[in-house]
Amino acid sequence: MEILIQNIKGLVQVREKSPRWVAGVDMAHLPVLENAFLHLKDGKIENYGAMEEMPLINADEIINASGRFVFPSFVDSHTHLVFAASREEEFVYKIKGMSYQEIAAKGGGILNSAKKLQQTTEDELLERAMIRAEEIIGFGTGAVEIKSGYGLTTKDEIKMLRVAKRLEENTPLRVKTTFLGAHAIPKEYSDRNDYIKLIKEEMIPAVAAEGLADYIDAFCEKGFFTPEETEDIMEAGKKYGMRPKIHANQLHISGGVQVGVKTGALSVDHLESMGEEEITALQNTDVMPTLLPGAAFFLNMTYPPARKMIEAGLPVALATDYNPGSAPCGKMPFMLSLACIKMKMTPEEAINSGTINSAYAIELQNDYGSITKGKVANVFITSEIPSYAYMPYAFGANLIDATILNGEIIRSNFFSIPE
Ligand code: NIG
Ligand code: FE
Repeated sequence: MEILIQNIKGLVQVREKSPRWVAGVDMAHLPVLENAFLHLKDGKIENYGAMEEMPLINADEIINASGRFVFPSFVDSHTHLVFAASREEEFVYKIKGMSYQEIAAKGGGILNSAKKLQQTTEDELLERAMIRAEEIIGFGTGAVEIKSGYGLTTKDEIKMLRVAKRLEENTPLRVKTTFLGAHAIPKEYSDRNDYIKLIKEEMIPAVAAEGLADYIDAFCEKGFFTPEETEDIMEAGKKYGMRPKIHANQLHISGGVQVGVKTGALSVDHLESMGEEEITALQNTDVMPTLLPGAAFFLNMTYPPARKMIEAGLPVALATDYNPGSAPCGKMPFMLSLACIKMKMTPEEAINSGTINSAYAIELQNDYGSITKGKVANVFITSEIPSYAYMPYAFGANLIDATILNGEIIRSNFFSIPE
């Protein structure tokens, strides 16, 4: 299949040579080619350039994108997309004044989701997760990370991860998986060390034996896992080839950032609570600070200090955290809006965060996250909009008119897709 998109008003995030990430002042720069063409061939980006320099191309499908922007698909590097049921009853408790931790302490929260997931079959879970996968594709996402962590028994953690793997087989999404057995301590463990032992000695080896997880995660937070426990679990995962990605500093300054640096984490995620020390700890490391503004929005919390991090020269990535408890939303364009409105990031910084930097956060920067020759042909075409900044500006609007993943047209509402 060869596709030619021509007369593109702006081809966004064009990089001749893809960087591994963009950081600090460089985040303010978003390369955009005006009046451009894009040639996709055999699932890859074959060529792009200015319209007046377009060579003769014999494409199977020619799309006229005049007035429209073309973006590389978003990479959503942190989700909990596989879950059994929504939790809007807790949403109502929150409206009435209960905190996230109070709800968790009452048997709500993660343990509530775990109970429901344990009672759901693998096929049912897949069916429900497929709906969400289709939904996020419509929001412009082409690659996604999915965590376990609502199983909390060996069998159910494995069930979740198998579902995540089956999503990759059954959708055009590229999926990376993370084992998050250390999400919460199940009630039946009077001694928390018994559960940690189970994670290290039974769950991690079982997950690794089936090759179900790329990464290992823990909820490093007061009332969940301490920095020492987190470090111990990360080291256990590393022995089985799982690189750490840590839930850090969501509700408190938890020490999670420092554990991430110490254990060579690929990313530390959330970061609503950050002091100077945490920012300094991340400088000159390979750790991607990943911000999940959907969770801060939904829980009505302080947002991560994105400006301070960028001013300290750090890169930042953006992801949705799509989950039933703290962020029931998988819409990357809305994360861009929150980044701009609530964290004072510029549209350029937000777009860099949700493409090339979030690709780094799941080690996909060589194949995804920018318009670069040879990368996977994952792009979306917007509706007719005045500028790329209109994307975060018009928050909540549906501005994606066509989606191409792996060089195949997945959906379009402005041209008919050939049989
Ligand atoms: O990323 N923080 C921990 N885990 C999820 C929320 C889990 C839940 O409430 O179900 C998060 O916010
Ligand atoms: Fe999360």
